[in-house]
Amino acid sequence: MSSLTVYCESFGCQMNAYDSEIIASLLEYRGHRVVSSPAEAAVIIVNTCSVREHAEERAIGRLHDLSRHAGAALVVCGCMAERLGIALFEMIPGLRGVAGPQSYDRLPAAIEETAASGGRFALLDGRGATTYALNPAAAGRGVSRYLAITMGCDNYCSYCVVPFLRGPVRSKPPETITAEAAALCGGGAREITLLGQNVIAYRHGETDFIALVERILNETEVGRLRFMTSHPKDTTPRIFELMARENRVCPHIHLPIQSGSNRILGLMNRAYTKERYLAIVREARAIVPDLAVTSDIIVGFPTETPRDFDETLEAVAAARFDAAFTFKYSPRDGTAAAKLADDVSPECKRDRLRILNERVTAMRADILGSQVGRHTEILLDGAVQKGEHRFRKGRTPHFRNAIVASGGLKDGEIVPVTLKRLLNFTFEADVRISQNLSQNI
Ligand code: SAH
Ligand code: SF4
Ligand code: F3S
Repeated sequence: MSSLTVYCESFGCQMNAYDSEIIASLLEYRGHRVVSSPAEAAVIIVNTCSVREHAEERAIGRLHDLSRHAGAALVVCGCMAERLGIALFEMIPGLRGVAGPQSYDRLPAAIEETAASGGRFALLDGRGATTYALNPAAAGRGVSRYLAITMGCDNYCSYCVVPFLRGPVRSKPPETITAEAAALCGGGAREITLLGQNVIAYRHGETDFIALVERILNETEVGRLRFMTSHPKDTTPRIFELMARENRVCPHIHLPIQSGSNRILGLMNRAYTKERYLAIVREARAIVPDLAVTSDIIVGFPTETPRDFDETLEAVAAARFDAAFTFKYSPRDGTAAAKLADDVSPECKRDRLRILNERVTAMRADILGSQVGRHTEILLDGAVQKGEHRFRKGRTPHFRNAIVASGGLKDGEIVPVTLKRLLNFTFEADVRISQNLSQNI
């Protein structure tokens, strides 16, 4: 098989971004070459998302655009490939393959076959065992990298299509994860974000999430560890004790609340109440006082009343989120919630989303504003030009954006800084010269 040029584009969540790296690495492993524009490519792969209708509309729009690259074989991967399956062949002219998220081990061979024969392929419904334990991409570049530790989900939140598309939850063996983490560090990563739909529910044999994190810290040189997403029902104080004890574990948790109304949370099958959620956050901050909490929130779930929505606003104010991703409810075929009438009007969803976003933004400004003057650290991950000045950009352990004057600094360094001022939710920071260093000067 001669070498193919492959272009890959990714929509959706971090898991899809990680999967795209896996796909690219599996193809490179077999001698194919990943290129950075569709015009150069013999094969164009689009890794898609199905979480809301809008995500699918965007992906389909993009696929129509890309289908105009005559001669290239177009392939759809990811959650929308799994959900719509072979119906996509009718929808996208010239489409040559569909592959769901549980089939990527078989994808390179299918692509080679299609390139040779001109035929079509469908790799769907791979329910089960695959965890892509090996990630040959681990030698890739980048200061901050993702590493999936679990795949799939069986929480069946009533609105969510993910469990139907990504199969039941599987945890990767710890030795595979530590090997992958070590390889990422060897390739230049300073920060690793452990990924899973509900990452804290990780369990492989005797190894639970806490034991896994400790093992990664012991066995690798990783500078920082993050993890997402965490489901409130599985949160324990041990997670926050770990953050307090291990300064390489970042003091940030992404903990979706989804709604502040207990009635709606019940209908969502979320298995906690607003009171429980707020108690988790309170107890967490008793252990990690400056913990940053971010969240996901859905407005306009079926039957949501103005009172339910007010309870969401109250919960948001009480939880003090650094940031939140906010969504209008979108019915997904096959989910339990899709059996309920989608009875909150589009205008009402839009208004609630606007009000919620205003509150979230005001809270973000308030929390970030209170950090000006603080000492912290930034992991540098790129350059930015502002007017005549060059800066390096990066993130604080709390997942906040910051920039520093770039003189002599390199990506991958973790530098001590003072947060000087806040502009458009990005801190301008000064590098702090440590005492030892200043004595040497
Ligand atoms: N496993 C993660 C991510 C799931 S998808 C988690 O449990 O948090 C990311 C977010 O999309 C969810 O947290 C939820 O807020 C939102 N979402 C999922 N399905 C949705 C739907 N049908 N309509 C609107 N938002 C949805
Ligand atoms: Fe979907 Fe819930 Fe699983 Fe997250 S935990 S992927 S929202 S079913
Ligand atoms: Fe991620 Fe979208 Fe699938 S959010 S899990 S790519 S449906």
